[in-house]
Amino acid sequence: MPAPLNPALFHFDPQVVWVMHCAEGPMPRAAMRAVRSFLFKELRPWLVAVKEDFIGLPGSVRREAARLLGADASDLSLVATTSEGLQRVAMGFPWKEGDEVVAPLGEFPSNVWPWKAQSRRGVTFREVPLWEGHRAGADALLSAPPTADADPEAALLAALGPTTRVLAVSWVRFQDGLKLDLRRLAEGCTAKGVALVVDGIQGAGTVPVPSLEGIAAFATGGHKGLLAPQGLGFLWTDPAFRVQLVPSGSWLSVEDATDFSRPNTDFERDWLASGERLEAGVPNLLGCAALSESLRMLNGAGVEAIASHVKALQHRLLEWLEGSPWSKEATRLRALLEADRLGAILAFHHEGRDPETLQAALRSAMRQGLYASTREGYLRIAFHGFHTEADADRVAAWMGRVL
Ligand SMILES: Cc1ncc(COP(=O)(O)O)c(C=O)c1O
Repeated sequence: MPAPLNPALFHFDPQVVWVMHCAEGPMPRAAMRAVRSFLFKELRPWLVAVKEDFIGLPGSVRREAARLLGADASDLSLVATTSEGLQRVAMGFPWKEGDEVVAPLGEFPSNVWPWKAQSRRGVTFREVPLWEGHRAGADALLSAPPTADADPEAALLAALGPTTRVLAVSWVRFQDGLKLDLRRLAEGCTAKGVALVVDGIQGAGTVPVPSLEGIAAFATGGHKGLLAPQGLGFLWTDPAFRVQLVPSGSWLSVEDATDFSRPNTDFERDWLASGERLEAGVPNLLGCAALSESLRMLNGAGVEAIASHVKALQHRLLEWLEGSPWSKEATRLRALLEADRLGAILAFHHEGRDPETLQAALRSAMRQGLYASTREGYLRIAFHGFHTEADADRVAAWMGRVL
């Protein structure tokens, strides 16, 4: 089973297995070359071309991002992080006193603070448990893990009330790895006139994006499954939703901004209807050089192929773990996998073990060059398109003896 992303495209140390792109993804060498060649131009700014670099680099990220999303490039805004994408929506939304945002219980903070920050505008934020025994916050370690019979979409849609304006969800959850059905949520939200806003970072690059119809906004950073450095991501917005948002007010969010034959101080201009309306100014061009290469590589391999490769590795690992101390968790995760409820993160619940047990397990893994991660009582193993069966077997051998 050849890896859809040839490991030779990366700079991996043969001793190292990095199964934590859910924290930080490795960048391909091509991205480094692109950054380097742009940096050389920055040494001699007379080589920086307006069309090729200043406009061309952000344009190529918007185009490749649109390809990944099956969207139109004009609906993309370049933002630094997932947080910034969600902030653009939360800060720009036409709130009225008494409006409400609903979100699943236990979202990553990037998808909580932008909404909570609207409380001074009279907006409330309400969390909804997604399954029986679901806990978060100070009680996160007491939570039961999700199972295949959970119906998180039903719980969320049932929670939407007359004052709910936004449903804000992670596509794939950071701690337990559960993947939400965006199509079902989009249909339910459309029927109730609620804007569905998606934090897509834990799915982007490893899970094919379903149709965006009925979704208001989708934000992601570039540094996890998209395999680019920290500091650049993108926000997709539905055009009809976008025009309701307050524009960012940057010099580039208006018409003719780079037409220097028109006086810059001529402020009789319309806001752009495109995604640039929400950008903060000139995007991080070094970030653009890297992210456009990473996206080109992902689009070239195809996210469908990456997703099915990841799924095969996940099955392989879980089969290995039957009969090991992880057996009960392997059975739970296999059922979730078969129900199409997981993205790239296999999150093994602590099952009442002391959290220090998982930390000690991680330390022992690192001593052998195996890098995994833990969050809120789950051990996270995240495969991507560059992993091989040998990588999965190394993880299995380690997990099989670590407890
Ligand atoms: C679900 C989720 N959203 C957002 C982030 C990070 O967001 P940002 O791109 O704002 O750093 C993470 C990182 O761990 C995450 O897991």
